[in-house]
Amino acid sequence: MELYEVLETRRSVRKYKIDEVSEDVLKKVLEAARISPSWSNLQCWRFIVVRDRAAKKKLAASMPDKNPAKKAVGDTAPVVVVLCADPKESGDQDGKDYYLLDAGLAMQQMMLAAHAEGLGTCWVAWFDEAKAREVCSVPEGYRVVGLTPLGYPEKQPSARPRKDFEEIIFDEKWGNPFK
Ligand SMILES: Cc1cc2nc3c(=O)[nH]c(=O)nc-3n(C[C@H](O)[C@H](O)[C@H](O)COP(=O)(O)O)c2cc1C
Repeated sequence: MELYEVLETRRSVRKYKIDEVSEDVLKKVLEAARISPSWSNLQCWRFIVVRDRAAKKKLAASMPDKNPAKKAVGDTAPVVVVLCADPKESGDQDGKDYYLLDAGLAMQQMMLAAHAEGLGTCWVAWFDEAKAREVCSVPEGYRVVGLTPLGYPEKQPSARPRKDFEEIIFDEKWGNPFK
């Protein structure tokens, strides 16, 4: 799939087929995360690949019932990838903690690669961190930043709306319409 097609057609997928993800494809998409850019190239991220059914159910239990991705994590997706990062292994500038950016970029690279492979993903950040930490034995010091179900989509969800170009993109200075 061509890059712009990947960007335009990626969706948050919350319904999955039961089909397994092959080891080769899994490694390929995880590699896309590994080569992501980061603050001073410090690579503060760690990824935990969860395939054990009971562990996935426990991760889902760390999510509120209202989280629309709960069933995908606990029941339908064959894989869940848990994203962790060590704030001390990254940097900060003017109070901005770059571990979140580092970790987010790596996860997004993985998600785009996954979509190019015909797989679906969904960012999940609404969960109880302490519970997720326990399920995956994440050491103190690391934050559990997010997780995603990973598997073959049951169907392609429709596109969610976005703000208009003019509202968010300026020319030279804030507020100037981009020409
Ligand atoms: C940081 C972050 C956290 C998110 N957390 C959740 C979540 O906990 N549960 C969920 O169902 N979707 C979650 N989402 C997915 C968003 O709802 C989704 O990206 C947005 O509605 C746009 O839809 P799209 O990804 O299909 O374009 C999260 C997205 C981001 C970027």
